[in-house]
Amino acid sequence: MAEKSDSRTQKILADLDKLAQKLQSDIATIKTEAEQEKLRILYTGRKSKLTEILRGIKSLNDEGKKQVGSKANVLAQQMETQLDDALTKLVNQKLGNIAQTERIDITLPGKKTELGHLHPVTSMLQFAEDIFMKMGFEVVYPYEIDNDYNNFQAVNIPENHPARDAWDTFWLEDGGIAITHTSSMQNRVLLSHKPPIRVIVPGRCFRNEATDARHEHTFFQIEGIYVDKGVTMGDMLGTLGTFFSEFFGKKVDVKFTPDFFPFVEPGGMISLTCFICDGKGCKVCKHTGWLEILGCGMIHPNVLKMGGIDPETYSGFAWGFGLERLIMLKYGIEDIRNFYSGNLKFIRQF
Ligand code: PHE
Repeated sequence: MAEKSDSRTQKILADLDKLAQKLQSDIATIKTEAEQEKLRILYTGRKSKLTEILRGIKSLNDEGKKQVGSKANVLAQQMETQLDDALTKLVNQKLGNIAQTERIDITLPGKKTELGHLHPVTSMLQFAEDIFMKMGFEVVYPYEIDNDYNNFQAVNIPENHPARDAWDTFWLEDGGIAITHTSSMQNRVLLSHKPPIRVIVPGRCFRNEATDARHEHTFFQIEGIYVDKGVTMGDMLGTLGTFFSEFFGKKVDVKFTPDFFPFVEPGGMISLTCFICDGKGCKVCKHTGWLEILGCGMIHPNVLKMGGIDPETYSGFAWGFGLERLIMLKYGIEDIRNFYSGNLKFIRQF
């Protein structure tokens, strides 16, 4: 019996040795991780070859069980290590291949993140505001959507007055107005301030008209309102002249011509030498050599009265200019439509 059991033990021990050898040669043939996984299940899984061999252990004597048991433990460990090593080798090979074909050149320059910048109209608006603030003006912003009273009536343009034709207006269905000029704030500014009043109103305006090189349906105006005792046209021209020299960084020629606006009396228009043709005449200045950029005048007594200011005691001036036209002059831009065309080639120059 002992001998029989001993020979069975020998047989199982020999089977275990064969199994170890077979694994060695199997491992030598695998090329992929999937194949490695198959081997792992085959040799060390729950229904593995090892389990199969160990089924025979039941019929062995104690000594035999001991021998087979300890050998099987060692073998199981070994097989696991060998399979793990094989996997590591496969993975390293793969990484090695990637490193060969996809080498990273750490000396290449990095990718720059693109930084945006302010739109030229925005930065020039801030520049203009700064100049006026240094001159003692307060900045008040308009409502882009306002009403008939503030856009027209409070600046002396009653309903059905023919002067309304000068402002091609975008009306809203509810009677609201996309402001046609920043004069829409004159009444509010007069009512909410006590003389001396020095306020500018920079804001976006809208005109329901065809566009061309000098006209946009949407554009920026900067309104100025100045009220005190004894204010004259001379103060107005001095204030605007100072602003222009600051804005353009040099003294500029200014032409004043009388003009009509219902909210000023007397009223005028200020033109600057067309910088594009240097006053010789071109398509931008309609061959006049001048570019009209600003309406202005002494605030009409009716407007002062509606603003709660006594025209017998106080006088004042107001102006409104198109910001884009000033920027066009400063940089020699020939077409106002460039500003909002979304053309990055143009915008990136600033
Ligand atoms: N609001 C006028 C316009 O848009 C400009 C202006 C403002 C004229 C103030 C005189 C005084 O045309």
